[in-house]
Amino acid sequence: MSTHFPNQVFPVYWYEDHVRLIDQTRLPNEFGVVEISRSDDMALAIKTMIVRGAPAIGVAAAYGMYLGAREIQTDDREKFLTELEKVAVKLRATRPTAVNLFWAIDRMVKTARQTVGNVAFLKESLLETAKSINAEDIATCEAIGDHGLSVLPQTPEPLRLLTHCNAGALATAGYGTALGVVRSAWREGRLERLYADETRPRLQGAKLTTWECVQDGIPVTLITDNMAAHCMKQGLIDAVVVGADRIAANGDAANKIGTYSLAIVAQAHNVPFFVAAPLSTVDFSLSEGSQIPIEERDSVEVYQVGETRICPPGVEFYNPAFDVTPAHLITAIITEFGAIQPADLIQFHEKQVG
Ligand code: MRU
Repeated sequence: MSTHFPNQVFPVYWYEDHVRLIDQTRLPNEFGVVEISRSDDMALAIKTMIVRGAPAIGVAAAYGMYLGAREIQTDDREKFLTELEKVAVKLRATRPTAVNLFWAIDRMVKTARQTVGNVAFLKESLLETAKSINAEDIATCEAIGDHGLSVLPQTPEPLRLLTHCNAGALATAGYGTALGVVRSAWREGRLERLYADETRPRLQGAKLTTWECVQDGIPVTLITDNMAAHCMKQGLIDAVVVGADRIAANGDAANKIGTYSLAIVAQAHNVPFFVAAPLSTVDFSLSEGSQIPIEERDSVEVYQVGETRICPPGVEFYNPAFDVTPAHLITAIITEFGAIQPADLIQFHEKQVG
């Protein structure tokens, strides 16, 4: 675990006999935690974005599977596995885009099916697996951050990086993917400043990314989403680093709405555009990005800012939460095993995982 960032936050973790989540809907004005002891409450916390960010909801769902397992009242192994599948169905229905959620739930189901022993032992194994997923994600993010150092522009002066949404400690089990790269660059004296897009409609950049930077003393400048092109034209940005919710086998990457336009703007200004994500974010069952399911959220997120309605009655709304950046706009994908070209994903995966 990194000792360089003593204020590092952990948005989801096992505490005594339940899960503790940082309530991300209350940041930055209030820091609060939510105690989760039941699988229904975990499903609701994921849906309502108390916990959010692709790897973080994967970890939360893994714990949700254990909490659901704990609620099953039977000693019959087959009945237990049938009931556990119902918990999986409930948790899979929370958010559709981030593949990490499905990856973690599948790993928990596989653990239950493959573990030899009685129901009590299966339950214990599920808790251990969820804790492993949690710990592995922190180590994965630290590796992503450090691998990012080899692909960031090698300039004599420290870099000015731009990010979108929040792919930080709050979006993972800790340290972050895109913000992991930012943190590693800061630790090595290679970062001058981070520019953070506010990220309408839910403002994860303004509320969460800047909050994380302030905790760690990383210089951060908040801009609205429509300022990125201007900043690049002014020569203020050396590289863009974002996270991903799901990457197709051809390297097309789904991330927070607005990422695609940022990639186009970066290409127009010759600014390198990096996607930082664990290899578990790649969905090799999808050949291209158009197959990635895109979550649509409540229109209130578009027509209201805070408590204020910003348009008259009679207007219609569209609120896709993610978009897909085509592989050809991505300079490299930074994974825990190193940085690669989007086109080399399949070959790379075969080499790493076999
Ligand atoms: O809707 P959110 O806040 O869950 O979306 C989060 C993002 O889009 C992140 O960039 C992505 O999950 C990567 S997190 C390491």
